[in-house]
Amino acid sequence: MEFKRNIIITGGAGFIGSHVVRLFVNKYADYRIINLDKLTYAGNLANLKDIEDAPNYVFVKADICDFDTIMKLMADYHVDGIIHLAAESHVDRSIKDPFTFARTNVMGTLSLLQAAKLYWESLPEKYEGKRFYHISTDEVYGALELTHPEGVKSEISAHEVYGDEFFKETTKYNPHSPYSASKASSDHFVRAFHDTYGMPTVVTNCSNNYGPYQFPEKLIPLFINNIRHRKPLPVYGKGENVRDWLYVVDHARAIDVIFHEGKIADTYNIGGFNEWKNIDIIKVIIKTVDRLLGNPEGHSLELITYVTDRMGHDLRYAIDSTKLKNELGWEPSLQFEEGIEKTVRWYLDNQEWMDNVTSGDYQKYYENMYSGR
Ligand code: NAD
Ligand code: TYD
Repeated sequence: MEFKRNIIITGGAGFIGSHVVRLFVNKYADYRIINLDKLTYAGNLANLKDIEDAPNYVFVKADICDFDTIMKLMADYHVDGIIHLAAESHVDRSIKDPFTFARTNVMGTLSLLQAAKLYWESLPEKYEGKRFYHISTDEVYGALELTHPEGVKSEISAHEVYGDEFFKETTKYNPHSPYSASKASSDHFVRAFHDTYGMPTVVTNCSNNYGPYQFPEKLIPLFINNIRHRKPLPVYGKGENVRDWLYVVDHARAIDVIFHEGKIADTYNIGGFNEWKNIDIIKVIIKTVDRLLGNPEGHSLELITYVTDRMGHDLRYAIDSTKLKNELGWEPSLQFEEGIEKTVRWYLDNQEWMDNVTSGDYQKYYENMYSGR
């Protein structure tokens, strides 16, 4: 079958990538979606069980740093679009092992860019109809102050805000963690490939995502699982750090809009207008899990355990995504209360998924898949 478009999505077996792959495979039957993933500890093909047999879906196990393999894939599949999500994504891991972050996030992105450049420049139409879309984070902008530690109502947000400033597309990069430094570096390389070679690139910087299929090292799935197993809930520092939370399916919707309609060489911030102090969001999670498990209200509050703060812990992230709303009409579709209820329910209903991930069994899924099951 001839496909209208052939798109590589990197990191499609991870948390956000799996939602993007699912959306594209289901919505665009005439696109071939090539999920390119190394299947690190964070990659899990069980995240895509529902679409793995779709006729427009292909999975390729590969490392984005493997330039020769990427070059071959570009030509074999006549790739005309790349949506790049593959990355090392956990700040705590980056503090312990920064080299892996530089390798994957910086060198891996560069290897993809160079492969796309050589392949696209070899075609008669060159960059016409092509797109390299790089998914990044709000963490590249650094950290904001808590000028309103108690929270105030604001024009910009559906929820209370904790400071007067917001990250805009024009905010100067000021990353603090090895993770955000590696993402910032990759963002610069992507923009450099536009400015130097004319590659049609676009970059987006998104706030914290939550929802189904997130690896349980991140705050929300970790805490849901720990409450279920009556394990301590490690709150870093005083729990006063603020994050802006967006439901992952809304991020995938934004990626769809921006991939198709975003201006070449532009940057869009994506956020939920939904700031929460860690300790407050933790209390919402406890309340929701206790209610859904039939525990008395407040039952799991005793699991809260204050632990030593993360090194260099950014105080506040807050995204202004007005540009995306005004220019491309995107807005979050879910209120936080609805999103967190859906999320907690999903983890409680999918205990097998969680048990596989926490036991490491999910890493056998790929081997079973290709050994005739
Ligand atoms: P994740 O850690 O859940 O998934 C990362 C995926 O990339 C995994 O499937 C992993 O196997 C794959 N991968 C890692 N190294 C690879 C390599 N060398 N070659 C090929 N594949 C490799 O991450 P996520 O939370 O889904 O984040 C996806 C992207 O979105 C990342 O670029 C991240 O920086 C960005 N982002 C994440 C958030 C968030 O809240 N999670 C917010 C904003 C931006
Ligand atoms: P995380 O989910 O790791 O995302 P990020 O660091 O990219 O924002 O953490 C979200 C917030 O929760 C962050 O301020 C760190 C904090 N946190 C804890 O307090 N305890 C934990 O066990 C984890 C994983 C995070």
